[in-house]
Amino acid sequence: MSLGEGTMFFLVLVFLTSSITSAVVQTGPVLDSSYVAAVYEHNLILNPEPHVPLSRSAALQHMQRNLDIYEEQAARAAQQGAQILVFPEDGLQGFNFTRSSISGYLETIPDPQKESWNPCTEPDKYNNTEVLQRLSCMARRNNLYLVANMADMQPCPLTTDPSSSCPPDGHWQFNTNVVFRSDGLLVARYHKNNLYFEESFDTPPQPEIITFDTPFAGKFGLIICFDILFYEPTVNLVEKGVRQLIFPTAWMNQLPLLDTIQFQRAFSLGANVTLLAANLRNDRMIMTGSGIYTPFSATYHHALQGDPEAGRLLVARVPVLDPLWVRQGEAKEEGGVRSESTSSTATDSGYCLKDSCDPPPAETASSVPPSPDTFISSMMYDPFTFVLLKETEGEVNVCNGTFCCHLQYQRSPQGDSKELYALGAFSGTHTVNGRYALQVCALVRCAGLDASSCGQQVEEAESKMDFLLEGNFGTKYVYPSILANKLALEQPEHLDTSADGRVTMKHSNMTAGLVTACLYGRLYHLDNE
Ligand SMILES: *[C@@H]1O[C@H](CO)[C@@H](O)[C@H](O)[C@H]1NC(C)=O
Ligand SMILES: *[C@@H]1O[C@H](CO)[C@@H](O)[C@H](O)[C@H]1NC(C)=O
Ligand SMILES: *[C@@H]1O[C@H](CO)[C@@H](O)[C@H](O)[C@H]1NC(C)=O
Ligand SMILES: *[C@@H]1O[C@H](CO)[C@@H](O)[C@H](O)[C@H]1NC(C)=O
Ligand SMILES: *[C@@H]1O[C@H](CO)[C@@H](O)[C@H](O)[C@H]1NC(C)=O
Repeated sequence: MSLGEGTMFFLVLVFLTSSITSAVVQTGPVLDSSYVAAVYEHNLILNPEPHVPLSRSAALQHMQRNLDIYEEQAARAAQQGAQILVFPEDGLQGFNFTRSSISGYLETIPDPQKESWNPCTEPDKYNNTEVLQRLSCMARRNNLYLVANMADMQPCPLTTDPSSSCPPDGHWQFNTNVVFRSDGLLVARYHKNNLYFEESFDTPPQPEIITFDTPFAGKFGLIICFDILFYEPTVNLVEKGVRQLIFPTAWMNQLPLLDTIQFQRAFSLGANVTLLAANLRNDRMIMTGSGIYTPFSATYHHALQGDPEAGRLLVARVPVLDPLWVRQGEAKEEGGVRSESTSSTATDSGYCLKDSCDPPPAETASSVPPSPDTFISSMMYDPFTFVLLKETEGEVNVCNGTFCCHLQYQRSPQGDSKELYALGAFSGTHTVNGRYALQVCALVRCAGLDASSCGQQVEEAESKMDFLLEGNFGTKYVYPSILANKLALEQPEHLDTSADGRVTMKHSNMTAGLVTACLYGRLYHLDNE
């Protein structure tokens, strides 16, 4: 296939430049409405001894120091017009607690679906809710929606039934997002479903699908960190038509495929959603990388080695994506009666490709034979099958079983840089630090000049490349990304998806050297096999 044929697939073309500054592209009348979002990357003050239990007052004293920083940032965000502000996961207490050592940090958060409570104006309704009160007042004082993450304790029925998920001490401890309306009312509470080595927390008995409505942008859905890699609740929310997700995280960066901003950008593009992502900043834990992503724009921050370890507030005006809200706005503008349309909106998710909502067939033969000279090298603990790019331009094909990745490339001439690049394919289940089924096509810069270095971490590259990367995926859930020199994102010039599962990403005229170009496919239905 020639480079030109990529555009013949009938799906969407995405054009865009992503940059550190906000770049909102209006793409037609339905996106005329917009709002101002803010995320804060927080350089948190840690408890140096998380394994040692603290009294409630000592734990509160610790959290108040982080809340003081939140307070300043909420005021700054409000000054810049923010209507919603998101703080990161674990941002008040930190991490590495045991189930008992976190006890001083816990508050019991009432269920906003069952009762209406404004902790700022009704502080005496519940004891032991100082953090909730302070966050609520912060939202109210600054007149914005505020999302924070904290530790929740909920009593549960003790029973001898071994199938009960109630822990032997009679209560659950949850990693929890809370949302406050701009007057301080507690409007949503979400318990993290996919824990990542968090001894202090329990998995909720059922995955929770939690959304809340705003007057400026309609509906938002809530997820936390590791959740973003799994069907429940993240993809379930998207398939229910939720197009705006809020993502507090404490994400340890992992190149070449799962750097924070790389996967945040990839998810927003692949699912065709807005993602408000707030990470922690902690150099020892390799945590940095936050952003405000829409399918059309990216406003992000990623610290580099040697940067001072400091927080960062990002603010951007972005289009409303909630289809029901947009339709209501249109009805109002036309002066018409508000229609109670409840038609399914899932077709706006990137997964459902026009007329091809059925899952594509798992196998399609590639016309180009696999290149000889393949080798296996481990990338992020998975055995990728690689082939080297040996020429300044050419075409290579590499398969793992029946899953094949195809690349046409043209390296731009540049000085005497001798960087080594390889195309890798992996189809299988990732099993280290989590279990998830993948199909991945990745064009990577190898860390050194030896083939065995392909798949290792590298942050810098000088070689620019025009390319077309394509895979025959056995899933419609494919997340595309392009990462350039020193962790800069580039927006793919074209993304095409065909009904038979073929996904094509085309890109040219890079502004910086290529670190990784990736099509990251998730086979959620195989996770438990
Ligand atoms: C938390 O634990 C991880 C390993 O489990 C360790 O690498 C890290 O240094 C610890 N962080 C803190 C703040 O104790
Ligand atoms: C709060 O605690 C105080 C002192 O222990 C107690 O008198 C009061 O009834 C409690 N209030 C609520 C709402 O539980
Ligand atoms: C993404 O959503 C927009 C509406 O917000 C829609 O017009 C577009 O077709 C969707 N793109 C994909 C790939 O489904
Ligand atoms: C993918 O490659 C790995 C490593 O060579 C191999 O073990 C695995 O069986 C291959 N997967 C398929 C589906 O053929
Ligand atoms: C890339 O740059 C070339 C030369 O400046 C230009 O002709 C071409 O239109 C550009 N392509 C895109 C997709 O911007």
